[in-house]
Amino acid sequence: MRKKLLMGNWKMNKTLSEALSFAKQTDEIIALAVKHNIDLGIAPTYLCLKDVKENVNENLIVSSQNVHFEDHGAFTGEISIPMLKDINIDWSIIGHSERRTYDNETDEKCNKKIIALIQNNMTPIYCVGETLTQFENGDTKKVIDTQIRNGLANLSSEQVKNLVIAYEPVWSIGTGKNASKEIAQDICKFIRDILLDMFGEVSQDIRILYGGSVKPENIKQYLSCPDVDGALVGGASLNIDSYKQLLINII
Ligand code: 13P
Repeated sequence: MRKKLLMGNWKMNKTLSEALSFAKQTDEIIALAVKHNIDLGIAPTYLCLKDVKENVNENLIVSSQNVHFEDHGAFTGEISIPMLKDINIDWSIIGHSERRTYDNETDEKCNKKIIALIQNNMTPIYCVGETLTQFENGDTKKVIDTQIRNGLANLSSEQVKNLVIAYEPVWSIGTGKNASKEIAQDICKFIRDILLDMFGEVSQDIRILYGGSVKPENIKQYLSCPDVDGALVGGASLNIDSYKQLLINII
């Protein structure tokens, strides 16, 4: 049985004081998640990671939104895995569509990052998803197949067992146009079939999330799909009441 996972991706939102104010209100929500055997997490900006991590219960996953694949060097503006580990951060989102769009994040670069994270016993949340044009052209599965196979190249079945995948159709992110639960299930199942082909039975243990305009009002339908194991939520994870309601609505 795969454990449900609810992750908030804060993107470029919240000052340090705002992030800390949120962190200090999480005890009750975390206790609820633990009681119902649901993994709960947030991904603040780099600047807030250390303070947020130090001010939340250890049961809340605190994840980075990105990381560089090299340990150190001349990479201005980047953050490395040893830097994250030093502040006890052991999760990172990789390949979010906003990074693919604005920061030239390629499948090959994602693959290097995923390998580096796994070699350091960290958990990547690998994001895949098609653009509106690709969706309208009927190319969704072709795009997802390429992103999964290239992003997860050169990894063994043993290495991918803790990996998390997030299917986020780009046309649904921040637009209010969430995908239907039929689309979410169809693509998450398609992803699981690729994982089965690449890695065998471990595909049944890998968690696959849906993301894109997930709100308290619509989250339940996704979690009712057999191949959707949780949600990656942007806007609706920023407010503590709405974050709590997301959790309550999947219990
Ligand atoms: P929204 O929930 O704001 O659409 O963002 C989704 C997302 O990109 C999460 O990573």
